[in-house]
Amino acid sequence: MATHVILFAILASAISQAFASDPSALQDFCVADKSLQVLVNGFVCKDAKLATPDDFFFSGLDKSGNTSNKFGSSVTPVNVNQISGLNTNGISLARIDFAPYGVNPPHTHPRATEILTVLEGSLYVGFVTSNPENRLYSKVLNKGDVFVFPKGLIHFQFNNGTGNAMAIATLSSQNPGVITIGNAVFGSKLPISDDILAKAFQADKKTIDWIQAQF
Ligand SMILES: *[C@@H]1O[C@H](CO)[C@@H](O)[C@H](O)[C@H]1NC(C)=O
Ligand SMILES: *[C@@H]1O[C@H](CO)[C@@H](O)[C@H](O)[C@H]1NC(C)=O
Repeated sequence: MATHVILFAILASAISQAFASDPSALQDFCVADKSLQVLVNGFVCKDAKLATPDDFFFSGLDKSGNTSNKFGSSVTPVNVNQISGLNTNGISLARIDFAPYGVNPPHTHPRATEILTVLEGSLYVGFVTSNPENRLYSKVLNKGDVFVFPKGLIHFQFNNGTGNAMAIATLSSQNPGVITIGNAVFGSKLPISDDILAKAFQADKKTIDWIQAQF
C-alpha cells in the first residue's frame, strides 16, 4: 500500500512537471512598479490601490511606423514595457508596417507564440521547424488573413506587393523577446570570431567579414 502511495506521488509530480507553464496570477493584476530596483522573474507589483486605468492603456497604434530603413519595415511593440498592467498577464502585441518589398527579417521570440493578422496589403510569411527537418511552412496572406508562428521557431514576413502592408501580431508573453538571426549571429557585441562563422556557414572569411560589416 505504502509503495503504491509513493508510486502515485512520483507519477503525479511527473505529470504536473510535464504540463508545467507560467504560474497563474495570485491577484487580479500586478501592475509593474518599474521604479523598484528589486529583480524578480517579471516586475514587482505596485500597490493595487495605486493602480490607475492608464496602467492598462496605450495609445498610438493607429500611426504607422517609420519604414525608411534598410529592411523597409518597422515594429511598434506594445508589451509590458509600454503597458505596466501586462505584467504577469502572459500577452502582448505589436504593429508591423512594411514598405513595398519590406521585410521583417528572420527572427524568433524565445518566450512566445505569435498570431499575426494582416490588416492592409499582403505578406509572404513563413517559419522553419527545428532540426533535423528544418521544414519551411509558408503562405501568402491577404487582408484579413491570420497565421501562427509557433513559440521559438524562426520566422519572417515579406511584403512582395507594390503597396504598403500592415499587420498586428499578438504574442503569448508580456515580454516575448526578439532574437533577429542576422543581428545575433553577425552583429553581436563582441563579435563571434570569423573563424567560427566561416566554418559554421561554409563560407570564406572575406564573405563573413563583409556580412559582419553590414550589421
Ligand atoms: C524616418 O526615418 C528616417 C531615417 O532614420 C528619417 O530620416 C526620417 O526623418 C524619418 N521620418 C519620419 C517621418 O520620422
Ligand atoms: C509573393 O511571394 C510568394 C512566394 O515567393 C509568391 O507565391 C506570390 O505569388 C508572391 N506574390 C506577389 C504579389 O508577388
